[in-house]
Amino acid sequence: MKKAASILLLFLTFASLTYLVSRGIHYYTEQSNLEKHATGKRSYEKHCATCHQSNGEGVPGLYPPLQSSDFLQEDKHRIINVMLQGISGELIVNGKTYNGIMHPVYASDSEIADLLNYVSMRFINGKHTFTVEEISLLRELHSSHSSN
Ligand code: HEC
Repeated sequence: MKKAASILLLFLTFASLTYLVSRGIHYYTEQSNLEKHATGKRSYEKHCATCHQSNGEGVPGLYPPLQSSDFLQEDKHRIINVMLQGISGELIVNGKTYNGIMHPVYASDSEIADLLNYVSMRFINGKHTFTVEEISLLRELHSSHSSN
């Protein structure tokens, strides 16, 4: 009987420790996601909002919208390429034609990842997630192309 009680006690201790550790991890991830979101928002305001506006609606005829943009939803890698290489020439976004120039964004891979995750969360319901690794990979691909 005594043995059973101590096994039970051991089990309870173990269970509550596991619970506490998992809450801790959960809290930590949540905090760091919030931080990344805030960093992404700041970068968006700094690098993008002058043209695409804080609310992502763009400026009719000049700057295409990011808010619910079909272009943004279609192809994740194309968005990264827009950041790294810019985009120009005729472009149709949500049925409207634009013909402007966007220059590449000068920011680190991790800043671009936070920024794009913010853009995705805010304007296309979190459809895509971006990692630093995939941005670095595409950046490397471009630099090996241009040196040839
Ligand atoms: C100086 C103005 C300017 C800034 C700053 C700018 N863009 Fe653009 N962006 C444009 C223009 C103009 C186009 C359309 C280019 C064309 O017509 O080919 C465009 C196109 C785009 C597109 C593709 C079309 C769409 O609306 O889905 C995306 C995505 C985009 N920009 C995202 C961004 C993000 C994210 C930032 C910030 C890192 C940014 N842009 C900063 C002017 C700008």
